[in-house]
Amino acid sequence: MRRLALDEVRLRPFHLLDQEWALLVGGCGKPNPMTVSWGGFGTLWNKPVVTVYVRPTRFTFGLLNSHPEFTLNLVPGGLREALDVCGSRSGRDTDKWEEAGIAPEASETVAVPRVAGAELVLECRTLASLDLDPARFLDPALEKHYPDKDYHRVFIGEVLGAFASSDRFGAG
Ligand SMILES: Cc1cc2nc3c(=O)[nH]c(=O)nc-3n(C[C@H](O)[C@H](O)[C@H](O)COP(=O)(O)O)c2cc1C
Repeated sequence: MRRLALDEVRLRPFHLLDQEWALLVGGCGKPNPMTVSWGGFGTLWNKPVVTVYVRPTRFTFGLLNSHPEFTLNLVPGGLREALDVCGSRSGRDTDKWEEAGIAPEASETVAVPRVAGAELVLECRTLASLDLDPARFLDPALEKHYPDKDYHRVFIGEVLGAFASSDRFGAG
């Protein structure tokens, strides 16, 4: 994979996670890929950051709490089935790498692996996490996302490295 300077990375932030989804990998002893479509890219504390939103019911939640690093992996369209598996099965019950037909490969800047064959990988160090507080929801319609009251924890990761295997996300 080719390392991109962060100002070379080209994203469509309102399309990418919502429409294409991504694989969030947490944990370094027993890493686990989980499909995500909620999150963001930006700047915080003068650092380039990725934010991901993870419900406490996910196996990934414990992994992110116990090891402060993660990778966010944008995979080619042909891997949609793998995204379905990683978004419906839990690492508590199964080895999702095997079930989804994907493989971890060593990251370059963090101990958590990335997904082999990803088109873009953002390797992140968790700077902070915070829990969404429903008492601060201004739009009551937001509650419809939480019939089980499993409000997301937000993990804010500093992007330590961006790596691309295609030209789609950065200069060729
Ligand atoms: C398209 C899609 C997007 C998802 N986005 C999120 C998300 O942003 N946050 C979250 O907590 N769960 C999200 N999920 C649900 C998890 O991926 C799913 O519950 C998964 O089985 C959890 O895996 P784990 O238990 O191995 O962590 C999404 C699922 C799909 C199919």
